[in-house]
Amino acid sequence: MKSIIAQYIEEIRAARIEDFKDRAAEVEQFRIKFLGRKGVMTELFEQFKSLPNEQKKEMGVALNELKTAALAKVEEFKNFVEQVEESGERHDLTLPADFAPRGSRHVLSVVMNEIADIFARIGFTVEESVEIEDDWHLFSALNFPHDHPARDMQDTFFVEKEEGKPEVALRTHTSSVQVRVMETHKPPIRIIAPGRVFRNEAISARAHCIFHQVEALYVDRHVTFADLKQTLLYFAKEMFGEQTQIRLRPSYFPFTEPSAEMDISCNICGGKGCNICKGTGWLEILGCGMVDPAVLDACGIDSKEFTGFALGMGVERMAMLKYQVRDLRLYFENDLRFLHQFDNVI
Ligand code: DAH
Repeated sequence: MKSIIAQYIEEIRAARIEDFKDRAAEVEQFRIKFLGRKGVMTELFEQFKSLPNEQKKEMGVALNELKTAALAKVEEFKNFVEQVEESGERHDLTLPADFAPRGSRHVLSVVMNEIADIFARIGFTVEESVEIEDDWHLFSALNFPHDHPARDMQDTFFVEKEEGKPEVALRTHTSSVQVRVMETHKPPIRIIAPGRVFRNEAISARAHCIFHQVEALYVDRHVTFADLKQTLLYFAKEMFGEQTQIRLRPSYFPFTEPSAEMDISCNICGGKGCNICKGTGWLEILGCGMVDPAVLDACGIDSKEFTGFALGMGVERMAMLKYQVRDLRLYFENDLRFLHQFDNVI
């Protein structure tokens, strides 16, 4: 009997609340096992009664020790359970950890960062500016004639005009940043301006009223069309791969003279002709040209001393060509099924 009591005392001392899963219920089971009406204590007291008198003293002490240990343990467990319930906390340190889902960059940010990195490697820094612009920075300083259709209500979101204040609009292109930079910096100027632009267009797969552009501007002494061409070829190869070829088509923009549009050899079919390049083997990528001397002068840069080139591209179009996105609306709808496709693109 003595060794049985010693074993029970050992069991009680070793019991740990952390091993219980359903704590309140298991504490109650523990109490019933030792202190219940048909429990260990009751049974041992029965046996105690029939012990010879000379053993009773020793066994009585041992039984008391067992009872005290059981009472103390049940008390300790109950306090613990109460505390946990009160604080509302239940820490099970043995549970496997939940993995926090990792977010990802939006594909437009990824592409804008990539464009910025490519230009940074040849010394272009990033300039950002306001999205609500006045007529001067959007149009007048950029040599837009007064009756140019880009100034039309159909294209431009005008902000309600205040009495005696100049016309203000959401910027329709990032070329306005060229003006702001030239007005405040002396050449050499070598910047890109990424940002959001707004046009009054009906939303469809191929047009949106909000999109993004990256503008580039280089102004210094002796900047020539050859510098522009070399920069464009470098950019196209970095962006779309070493095998990429470029071609320039004459074009017109009010703020550049001469102006051109650049195409790249189709990166889907390699120039053979497919439905993306509409069978031509070429994809239209951006507008560019030599900064019109009238623009330099309007921004306070002497056009007799300095020349420059500028270019502007649409970020959505770049992303479309790089990742074969077929519908512009996907960029703005925040559909996780679309966004998750770029989880591993950094
Ligand atoms: N601002 C023009 C647009 O929104 C793009 C552009 C064309 C920018 C030619 C330029 C440029 O800097 O030289 O369509």
